[in-house]
Amino acid sequence: MDSLKDVIEDAIHGTTVFERINALNPDYIPKNLPHREIQIRELTVNFRDILINPGSTSVRVVITGKTGTGKTVTAKKFGEIFSEIAKEKGLKIFYLHINCHRQRTLYLILMEIARQLNLQIPNRGLSSQETFKLIYDYLDKRNIQLILALDEFDYFISTSPVEDIYFLVRIYDELNALVKRIHYIFILREMSSLASLDKSIKDHVIKNIIEFHPYTSSDLFDILDDRIKTEKAFREGAVPEETIKFIADIYGVDKGGNGNARLAIETLELAGKIADTEGSPQVSIDHAKKANSKINPELSIIIDTIKDLDLHQLLVVKAIMNLHKKEGVDFFPMGRVEEEYNLVSRELGAPPRKHTQLFEYIRKLKLMGLIVARQSGKGMRGRTTLISLSVPLSTEFEDLINNEIRDKLLQQNNY
Ligand SMILES: Nc1ncnc2c1ncn2[C@@H]1O[C@H](COP(=O)(O)OP(=O)(O)O)[C@@H](O)[C@H]1O
Ligand SMILES: [Mg+2]
Repeated sequence: MDSLKDVIEDAIHGTTVFERINALNPDYIPKNLPHREIQIRELTVNFRDILINPGSTSVRVVITGKTGTGKTVTAKKFGEIFSEIAKEKGLKIFYLHINCHRQRTLYLILMEIARQLNLQIPNRGLSSQETFKLIYDYLDKRNIQLILALDEFDYFISTSPVEDIYFLVRIYDELNALVKRIHYIFILREMSSLASLDKSIKDHVIKNIIEFHPYTSSDLFDILDDRIKTEKAFREGAVPEETIKFIADIYGVDKGGNGNARLAIETLELAGKIADTEGSPQVSIDHAKKANSKINPELSIIIDTIKDLDLHQLLVVKAIMNLHKKEGVDFFPMGRVEEEYNLVSRELGAPPRKHTQLFEYIRKLKLMGLIVARQSGKGMRGRTTLISLSVPLSTEFEDLINNEIRDKLLQQNNY
């Protein structure tokens, strides 16, 4: 047996599937944003007036969508490129990104704006109005247009006094400034968080709403693929397509997932680390499953829902489990699952259900996130549905399923 020092040395010098692992950081801004081109276009159309006719209006845009739909990264990317283009045209358009969860009060938000602008604010307890005036004068003197992205704005709304919200949103009424220099991107998780506001504030905020929908499986595939290949997060060939597809299918909104790109990227990174730990040169579907069971908070809920499955649904799960064990591959055609299910049912003295019923079980199990199903490529016999468990096979999981089946059989025989 190796000494522990050997173990550690070995892991330090061991091979790795990663090439640029920092490209998987949550704060990393990639070169491309697959499936957000339309939103970037919408942002541009709304803001191009400041390029064409600076100072005439104050632009306000709302970005809304669930967690992990790319709101933050898209706003930042837009800001970065848009101000770059302005610079090329000899205009000063600055983009400032403020996280209202981090800067929790109006005061802190104003201080953060000043800090990002490199503007010193005297330390003698200025009011918000006074501070804002300093910021505005600074912009005015240097002829700067400011795009202010207020991220996690839901949070500001739910925690700040109405006067503060009013102040931030209606600044120009306070200032009487003729030249408009400040433009807004309000980033919200839920439009409903605006419900509590006065109509007058709402009218100021709700102008142009850009929606970010949860990602589908194929969207997520492209996002992961881009991180792997374009951003070179992994070594060439280290992540097979089927692994990417597997992760994309777990989170794709069209496959019953939450459409969250952050979780998909995290799962990919963790799967890579598990591959490294096992000394594997490739990230396999099994690594992805293990990563998923660690990351996916819903998994413990899945375990609970197993208790609600009826006997034949459990037998389907057992059949897939058997196939995984026997054949050691990741996906099985529907026909194989059906054969195995028929076999398992007969063995246990429970007459198997019909084909159509089996399809219904598979559909339910998929909705519950317990299995992943996908269409095969066009083979000789046309397309078939391929099925895999979404959780790694473990003795705990196996025991759980077997115990539940036993209980259900006992119950049945007692009645
Ligand atoms: N279209 C996309 N292309 C590439 N990466 C994306 C895309 N959408 C989201 N991401 C990545 O997913 C993670 C979550 O995105 P984020 O912008 O923080 O979502 P939100 O702000 O909506 O919660 C980030 O790491 C981000 O870089
Ligand atoms: Mg965000």
